[in-house]
Amino acid sequence: MTSIAGIISSLFRRDMEGYLEQPVNPVTLENLDSLMVGLDPTLDDTILAICSSGDQPFALLEKAGKVVAVDREDYQIRYARDRAEALRHRNYDEFFQPKKWKPSTSYAQEIKRVKEYFNESRLDRVREKVGFLSFIHADIFKVCKKQRFSKVYLSNALDWTKEISPNEALRIVANCLPTGGLIYLVTYDSIKNIDDELPPELEKNEERTKEALETERSRPYREQWETLTVYQVYQNI
Ligand SMILES: C[S@@+](CC[C@H](N)C(=O)[O-])C[C@H]1O[C@@H](n2cnc3c(N)ncnc32)[C@H](O)[C@@H]1O
Repeated sequence: MTSIAGIISSLFRRDMEGYLEQPVNPVTLENLDSLMVGLDPTLDDTILAICSSGDQPFALLEKAGKVVAVDREDYQIRYARDRAEALRHRNYDEFFQPKKWKPSTSYAQEIKRVKEYFNESRLDRVREKVGFLSFIHADIFKVCKKQRFSKVYLSNALDWTKEISPNEALRIVANCLPTGGLIYLVTYDSIKNIDDELPPELEKNEERTKEALETERSRPYREQWETLTVYQVYQNI
């Protein structure tokens, strides 16, 4: 944490015992196996991922060449950075519960599932790659306008972004990807009709969407009101 605004916000977020208040998203509610099936990361990939708790960027890092975790909430970035630091020191207890942050009481089930996913041998593999993970505190759509990636994990950002329409936002993401680049999109069902007005650069990847949904159904994580789709860049400049 370097910015003055960040230092001030961290002072205000401490409780009586000196803990930092929980970030809004301390652990993923999604299925990490579905994400891996849907995006199929390889060493050739540089993946832009919504950071949130950090669980998705850490999962992708195991197989990808590089991962860039982005979030517009400073506390999510600081929380995930603390987890990366714990990983670097092979402190796996702190990876699941960074000690500066107030322990989570309301997500016991999700933390248990994430611990099952990140077993010790997987964490050892992710740890070896931690130098290939970077963090950006920014709006993901601004990052997409400046840098190029091969795949994007885009969870709930369309729901939370009011400045541009979902389809405009998808078009911006498509334009930072090569032809064949993938977007793993998670949205609330409130965002309807995305497929009806899909930007011309994108098509739904039916096969990957089906496989990811089947994986999710085998171990359901998330509330019924969210949905996942894998899109693919059809043709790009
Ligand atoms: C609800 S969380 C995603 C959690 C995910 N569904 C899970 O269970 O792991 C959405 C995250 O995206 C971030 N976010 C939303 N819109 C964004 C944007 N335009 N740019 C960067 N981050 C954004 C939020 O700050 C939040 O951390």
